[in-house]
Amino acid sequence: MYLTLFIIVLINVTKQTKAETQDQCSILNIQDDDTRLNFTEMAIKNGYKCEEHDVITKDGYILKMFHIPGNVSRPVLLMHGFLDSADSYILRGNRSLAGHLADSGYDVWVGNSRGNRYSRRHLHLNPDADIAFWDYSVHEYGSYDLPAVIDFILEKTNQSQINYIGHSEGTTMMYVMGAHKRKYNEKIKLFVALAPVCYLHKSMSPLPALLKTVLFVNRFLINVVHEILSYNSLAKKMIDLVCSDDVFSYTVCIEWFLFSGTGSDAEEFEPSFLPTVIGHLPAGTSNKNMNHFAQISNRKQFAQYDYGCLENLKRYGSFVPPRYNLKNVNMKVALFVSRNDKFATLENVKLLTDQLPNVVHKHVMEQKQWNHIDFTWGKHAYKYLYPKVSGILDKYN
Ligand SMILES: *[C@@H]1O[C@H](CO)[C@@H](O)[C@H](O)[C@H]1NC(C)=O
Ligand SMILES: *[C@@H]1O[C@H](CO)[C@@H](O)[C@H](O)[C@H]1NC(C)=O
Ligand SMILES: *[C@@H]1O[C@H](CO)[C@@H](O)[C@H](O)[C@H]1NC(C)=O
Ligand SMILES: *[C@@H]1O[C@H](CO)[C@@H](O)[C@H](O)[C@H]1NC(C)=O
Repeated sequence: MYLTLFIIVLINVTKQTKAETQDQCSILNIQDDDTRLNFTEMAIKNGYKCEEHDVITKDGYILKMFHIPGNVSRPVLLMHGFLDSADSYILRGNRSLAGHLADSGYDVWVGNSRGNRYSRRHLHLNPDADIAFWDYSVHEYGSYDLPAVIDFILEKTNQSQINYIGHSEGTTMMYVMGAHKRKYNEKIKLFVALAPVCYLHKSMSPLPALLKTVLFVNRFLINVVHEILSYNSLAKKMIDLVCSDDVFSYTVCIEWFLFSGTGSDAEEFEPSFLPTVIGHLPAGTSNKNMNHFAQISNRKQFAQYDYGCLENLKRYGSFVPPRYNLKNVNMKVALFVSRNDKFATLENVKLLTDQLPNVVHKHVMEQKQWNHIDFTWGKHAYKYLYPKVSGILDKYN
């Protein structure tokens, strides 16, 4: 497998060198190419208005938020998952979730978590020099990023509540917020959870093993590697090389790697969509964020970050990290789950819904192959899923 990878990289290096001479002639094509466009450009290309905003958190991070204006009395905030960015909500143009909601009259706001390619900024810290910048996990997403972004939207729209849609880790941060910043429950009209990720220990192979490996490797690396898979990193450039070959890339990058982690569904992820995805992802995050997930899986508990006994005692006043109390998350929640999702398995989600006090709706996707990433990238999500999402939103708006 690694030999194949190596060969593909070689082929692509040669190809790139050849292509460089032609680059100047094809600049116009490239600029119009979905693989290179940012969120704003994608939105405009698909006929939407789009504004950009900077939101500053209490601890100084500068978060980029995109806004497709609609009916201000129906604001909805979309938050992405692990290693992802706002882009996933617009990659399929008017067949993506942001497009669908804008077409349905919603005032659409799409956020970016601290540290990703759009939110790699801070008032005082330099992400390239200060390791303190990367000292965060889903706990900070939920206790700083979401409150800042939500208050920003409430002020701009003059509303008392917004709707919220999260995908994957975009849902995890919401349980953190609801449990940890309790007064923010009142600011959410409806929380739509797509592929809800909370408990992880009942995931499908090979995830538990993978997360165990993360914990093991990080015993040595957690204080050495702070940022992972950033958009401009060498690792990302390697991924670009391996995944940009016309012949092998789909097999290697999607069928071997991506599908083994997310569940396989070739029908919803066609080969021609690969360059678009690789052009935007992965968007970078902190190693601590990944490590926290590995802990949640390994400890079989939805709890705060585990620093080890002594440091836990100092920070939390107990040897073990405190659990997030899901009973506090009393906002209305609608969940969308699928059978072929290797992270948000039906069993993991059941552990979650058994504790959430205010679940108003739960939908299991009829499509048997529907996987973790189809919720945002699925070719037919505009047909199978998004009308159901706007339907449940309409009911509460
Ligand atoms: C997106 O692209 C537009 C047009 O090139 C540019 O003005 C804008 O600053 C870019 N936004 C971000 C967040 O990169
Ligand atoms: C905006 O949304 C509100 C609340 O859903 C609704 O009552 C109103 O009719 C909408 N306005 C327009 C112009 O569609
Ligand atoms: C998207 O836009 C195209 C071109 O304007 C249109 O033909 C198509 O029906 C739209 N699709 C959706 C799902 O709105
Ligand atoms: C904001 O809403 C309140 C009532 O909810 C209203 O009294 C006030 O005039 C509104 N302000 C603006 C700027 O629209």
